[in-house]
Parts: sequence; C-alpha cells; structure tokens
Amino acid sequence: MADTLIIYYSSTGYNKKVAQLVADKIDADVFQVEPVKPYSKDMWAAWDVAKKERDEDSLPELKTGYPEMSQYQRIIFGGPAWGYTLANPLQTFLKNADFAGKPVYPWVTFYDHDEKYLADLKEQLHNGQVHDLLELTMGILGNDQTLNKTLDDWLTQIQ
Ligand SMILES: Cc1cc2nc3c(=O)[nH]c(=O)nc-3n(C[C@H](O)[C@H](O)[C@H](O)COP(=O)(O)O)c2cc1C
Repeated sequence: MADTLIIYYSSTGYNKKVAQLVADKIDADVFQVEPVKPYSKDMWAAWDVAKKERDEDSLPELKTGYPEMSQYQRIIFGGPAWGYTLANPLQTFLKNADFAGKPVYPWVTFYDHDEKYLADLKEQLHNGQVHDLLELTMGILGNDQTLNKTLDDWLTQIQ
C-alpha cells in the first residue's frame, strides 16, 4: 500500500488529469469522489443545480463512500472552485470524512476566483492539518510543461 492518498473530485476532467499526473510522480493511491447524480458538463447549467443545492442546504449524495485515512502518512486533496469555494460533492465528503490527524496538501483548479476556498476547506475539514493551497489556473492547466513543473515544485514541499 502507498503511504499517500490522493482524494479528488472532477466534473469535466481537469482534476482527474492532475490526480493522475501526481499519482504518476509519487507513490500514491487515488480515491475519486463521485456524486450519485453527475452534474451537467455545461458550467452554467451545473451552477444552477449547485446553487440551488446550497440555497436549500441539500448537498448531493455520494456513491463512493469514504476511504480509511488512518493507514496513510499524508493526504492530497484536490478539486475545482465552484462559486469561489469547494465543489458541492467535496462539501458532502468533508461533512462525513475523518482525516485521522493527517497532514493535508490541497490543490484547487479554477478560472479566476477561488477567494474562500482555503478558509472554507480549513473550516469544513475534520481532524487534519491543512497546508498551503496549490492554485492551478486554467492557464497552468492548459500548458503541460508548466503544469508538470508546477506540480514537481509543489511535490518537493510535501513531506
Ligand atoms: C458549478 C460551477 C461553478 C464554478 N465556479 C467557479 C468560480 O467561482 N471561480 C472560478 O474561477 N471557476 C469556477 N468554475 C470553473 C471551474 O473551477 C472549472 O470548471 C474546474 O476547475 C474544472 O475542473 P474539473 O474539470 O475537474 O471539473 C465553476 C464551474 C462549475 C461547474
């Protein structure tokens, strides 16, 4: 078993790509969070649903359960910014997940705004030590060389 667990959510594939790149670079297991009902790939249609869920305090159900985190040394936690904060499926995940006191290294993907992401992550995550946030803009994600260099630099800081 690997000593690092990557937990991520991805609706349109960017975070999946990041998770796979990171897993190729280090020895890590990968856990993908998936809602029972996938969101539209159209950003605005997805936002209509996600916003309604937030307004009605009815976060989505997950079909993927929860990994046992105590057996890992560290957790890497990635996902997209939705409405400046965590995507709804990750908010559901955080409500029920116990990070077993482990260090947590987060990344986020976004276009131009992720203002509340790190503060909200720290507030919502139970029993983990959250480190600095790696911010991956679409500009970085669209350039494989830049993305690989950014991830390599980041991974040198992960212990
Ligand atoms: C419901 C929804 C809300 C979003 N809100 C934001 C936002 O507040 N700021 C931003 O820069 N990008 C926002 N985006 C763009 C996403 O961050 C971008 O599509 C995502 O990082 C792609 O990751 P994925 O392919 O792994 O799903 C939003 C996208 C969706 C679907």
